[in-house]
Amino acid sequence: MIWLIETLLSTGYVLSITQCELFAGGTETTGLTTEWFVAELLKNEEAMKKVKDEVTKQINGNVVKESDLVHLPYLEACFKETLRLHPAGPLLIQRKAVETFNVWAINRDPKIWDDPLSFKPERFIGSNVRYKGNEFGYLPFGSGRRMCPGETMASKLILLTVASLVINFDWFIPDNTNPMEINMDEEMDIAMYKKESLHVIFKLNNELFKN
Ligand code: HEM
Repeated sequence: MIWLIETLLSTGYVLSITQCELFAGGTETTGLTTEWFVAELLKNEEAMKKVKDEVTKQINGNVVKESDLVHLPYLEACFKETLRLHPAGPLLIQRKAVETFNVWAINRDPKIWDDPLSFKPERFIGSNVRYKGNEFGYLPFGSGRRMCPGETMASKLILLTVASLVINFDWFIPDNTNPMEINMDEEMDIAMYKKESLHVIFKLNNELFKN
């Protein structure tokens, strides 16, 4: 990300602080959350099957629209569960304060979450837990005045991307690697990265797009 900003500046492009913040805050977080989401679906066959059934039943044709998202509760539950296990912003820095808020640890706290280390999207089905910054056990986009201003954009973008990938592509892991062997180790930096990048091949399965 920094290299992009540096390149733009070195070519005489003038960036405002707001543009820099939006670039920096919006690109890696969205990309790495999508990567974790795809990895979790590959690893959790049952969840993947339910997502596929839901998306296939709901989407008429091959283009997923924003208005479809409210009819895809299981997909959204999988997204929430991905954010719980892999919060892109693991540490929240409080406004005008020196202490940090360890979202990553809270999201894995057995006093708050049942079986916290397992990917269980069902925990969000029928629950009122949202990611709007009101639930102090679940703050993937932060809370209060420093809460992520890109939350709506990011959640819609990621849900639309994954739904489109599910409906239009078959997913393969190169070299027939067993999905259970996908390395889910994390690397903590300013965001929570996947230590080993996910390698997956998306093969178009939709006749309409082939020509
Ligand atoms: C899955 C995607 C995303 C996640 C998980 C995420 C998470 C967060 C979190 C947790 C914070 C608060 C940090 C803190 O309190 O210390 C934050 C702040 C911020 N996010 Fe996001 N974000 C995402 C996508 C985006 C997008 C798409 C944009 C812009 C288009 C964006 C722009 C920002 C900005 C500008 C801030 C700083 C707000 C401030 O300090 O006042 N984010 N984000």
